[in-house]
Amino acid sequence: NRRSRGRPMKQRLLVVANRLPVSAVRRGEDSWYLEVSAGGLVSALLGVKDVDARWIGWAGVNVPDEVGQRALTKALAEKRCIPVFLDEEIAHQYYNGYCNNILWPLFHYLGLPQEDRLATTRSFQSQFDAYKRANKMFADVVNMHYQEGDVVWCHDYHLMFLPKCLKEYNSKMKVGWFLHTPFPSSEIHRTLPSRSELLRSVLAADIVGFHTYDYARHFVSACTRILGLEGTPEGVEDQGMLTRVAAFPIGIDSDRFKRALELPAVKEHINELTHRFAGRKVMLGVDRLDMIKGIPQKILAFEKFLEENPSWRDKVVLLQIAVPTRTDVPEYQKLTSQVHEIVGRINGRFGTLTAVPIHHLFLPLSREWTVGSFATDGRPLELPLLPLLLSAAFAAVATAVRSFRHCCCCCPQLSLLSPLLSATSIATATADRSLDFHALCALYAVTDVALVTSLRDGMNLVSYEFVACQGSKKGVLILSEFAGAAQSLGAGALLVNPWNITEVAASIGYALNMSPDEREKRHRHNYAHVTTHTAQDWAETFVSELNDTVVEAQLRTRQ
Ligand code: ADP
Ligand code: G6P
Repeated sequence: NRRSRGRPMKQRLLVVANRLPVSAVRRGEDSWYLEVSAGGLVSALLGVKDVDARWIGWAGVNVPDEVGQRALTKALAEKRCIPVFLDEEIAHQYYNGYCNNILWPLFHYLGLPQEDRLATTRSFQSQFDAYKRANKMFADVVNMHYQEGDVVWCHDYHLMFLPKCLKEYNSKMKVGWFLHTPFPSSEIHRTLPSRSELLRSVLAADIVGFHTYDYARHFVSACTRILGLEGTPEGVEDQGMLTRVAAFPIGIDSDRFKRALELPAVKEHINELTHRFAGRKVMLGVDRLDMIKGIPQKILAFEKFLEENPSWRDKVVLLQIAVPTRTDVPEYQKLTSQVHEIVGRINGRFGTLTAVPIHHLFLPLSREWTVGSFATDGRPLELPLLPLLLSAAFAAVATAVRSFRHCCCCCPQLSLLSPLLSATSIATATADRSLDFHALCALYAVTDVALVTSLRDGMNLVSYEFVACQGSKKGVLILSEFAGAAQSLGAGALLVNPWNITEVAASIGYALNMSPDEREKRHRHNYAHVTTHTAQDWAETFVSELNDTVVEAQLRTRQ
């Protein structure tokens, strides 16, 4: 794997991703409110600066009328964003269906949908057709805005069909494709009915990038085993045409976090949180509420830790920030109820009149991040103290219910109270509030132990952000070995298998008792990595290599 530092990007860059960095909310016939989108792809690309870039993508909303489309296009243009309008049915079949019910679980080793998730093969086919149609609509918008010399950078599993569409339009277009999720073992990819068509389409790009060397290797194996093409150290070769395949580990804009920690408002939040949790160690999880994040596994491991270590019960708190995501997909709805139920049960089991062990906050992000090459809107800064207070109040309710249940365990109707317990946790999470960037930085900064227990994860930027905010505290990162970040932060983190609840519970104990010397040593390693492998380096390296690859290909064809 050839890893050179990139050169500053001189050409215009067209970033194409399913999701724009802002999602639109309609306020009137021609009035729109824009809020920052969630997820690692958006966070990383917002950290890329000093480039003349346009971002093409879906605004996350159905806009059937021309008045609305015109107004939204204008509002987005100010943010250098260009919308792709997908009608409701296509968006549903493409985004909820093929992308999030088929490709996302498959690429994270959760397999293809069974009968209950996908009734018939015909529905699979219709979702794939919608996927191709949607990709074609993205291609049309790119073509409309493309100028000679532009670099077109396509992102993620939503747009695997795009490189082919673009090259059919203009074979000279410089096209790169980057996957933000894992690429699974070729034996997993092999199960996908449209396996070959997708691989061939991605291979139309000049360069194909992944977060880790393993994902790149899996992709090359899929091309050799499924398509019968030749894999070389540089990539995949088809009849003398090379598609370069390589690993480009993503990073964050660590300076932005460091700068935020210096702001008086953030310092004030830090003081408030420190005061609020005085005498307790703070553990933190920040995840989209997605089945790949291993949130139930994390919470069950925490429960096991409390069960085995009664002396820690009133000395540690787990703050779990769960960002609502893909809420129209049934699997995500099921997960939401499951997590609420487990949290309610554990808080009922270990809560006291004054404290609960888990604060589960179901929070969309609100942030004003005018950073990088794209400006974003947001609501005012707001720290979620209200939910924390509510949680304490609900702890009292939980405890009362718990003792009631204990003293009346012979009364069968009382099992009806466990849904009430989960409902109380949900209530803490549905008040009208949100978490913004500064509040998030403050939370990272006061954390003693961060818990990332993804069952699979392309990279996981939350682990990077936590490390970037730990300048003084030197908190411990417990990190799943199945996150891409394990390959870069493995030496500093405590690596765990999230399926092994006993192991994770033991790691929690180890982390909470770790000596300051060991914490310092582990933190130093991770901090050095996070601050030297930034989002900017990632983007510059990818685009430089895309340019070099195109020049090399031209030289080869002339020879
Ligand atoms: P994924 O891309 O799967 O969501 P990552 O850990 O790579 O996982 O990235 C998640 C990103 O979402 C991080 O940059 C994190 O700061 C950001 N984020 C954290 N909290 C919220 C929130 N409440 N709303 C939206 N985004 C959030
Ligand atoms: C992951 C994916 C991104 C996606 C994000 C949020 O990070 O790799 O492509 O944008 O999750 O998911 P959503 O479906 O809301 O865009």
